Amino acid sequence: MNEIVVRPYEAKDRDAVRRLTWDTADQGRPLLPAAYDREIIVDILTRYYMERAPHSLLVAESGAEVVGYLSGCPDTRDYEYFMRFRVIPGVLMRGIWKGLLWQRTTWKIFWAAVGTWRCGGFKIKELLKTYPAHLHVNVREAFRGEKAGRRLVEEFLARLNAVGVGGVHAMVREDNAKGRAFFEQMGFEIKARLPLRWVEGGKTVERCRLMYGKRLG
Ligand SMILES: CC(C)(COP(=O)(O)OP(=O)(O)OC[C@H]1O[C@@H](n2cnc3c(N)ncnc32)[C@H](O)[C@@H]1OP(=O)(O)O)[C@@H](O)C(=O)NCCC(=O)NCCS
Repeated sequence: MNEIVVRPYEAKDRDAVRRLTWDTADQGRPLLPAAYDREIIVDILTRYYMERAPHSLLVAESGAEVVGYLSGCPDTRDYEYFMRFRVIPGVLMRGIWKGLLWQRTTWKIFWAAVGTWRCGGFKIKELLKTYPAHLHVNVREAFRGEKAGRRLVEEFLARLNAVGVGGVHAMVREDNAKGRAFFEQMGFEIKARLPLRWVEGGKTVERCRLMYGKRLG
């Protein structure tokens, strides 16, 4: 196997990162059935990082192939603002244009998100004061266990430290044992347990997300 190299994201990586985002979005597997409009889902998951914070996107490369990426930002409030006023309105317009409002899956996702919000699943405002940065990290299955995840996270933490950010968090589903083991090994600790409504196999299910935090500096 080629050596894994971690480097900053470049515009040429766009398609590879979008593909990897789709393939690994739900605990390392695709989020929804292939029949659903993947462009819309991938837009929600990547547009902030590619358009607003490309400087804090990192990729792991093996040979010429992008096999992992880390998307994050130093200030989650900036992420929330950009999502609310730029990404979500654009996604809604595209969804209407593409006829997604007629698909049952769209409404299930929508009501699951509303349910998550109503039961406090997005309530992290206080914790953001201590852990303002956030990150997501995904590695293609065949390349897991080769330290790509560790190197991506270490590089991102070094960048946050360099600009004086005091803390970082990552959200991990409670039933993602491997993701949890990874973050615990990387020195993160559980700071909150947040309810989550989720669509799985066409059904809305109740799950939990764990907010893992790490102090920096
Ligand atoms: C979680 C993930 C990013 C880890 O990346 P990785 O490249 O496989 O992990 P690494 O090889 O860098 O491992 C780093 C450390 O975590 C530990 N670790 C990684 N996966 C583990 C697992 N499944 N069980 C126990 N420990 C694990 C390793 O032992 C290693 O410890 P060490 O460096 O002190 O020896 C990767 O498995 C993945 O993409 N999973 C699917 C997506 C996901 O769940 N993302 C996280 C939630 S957002």
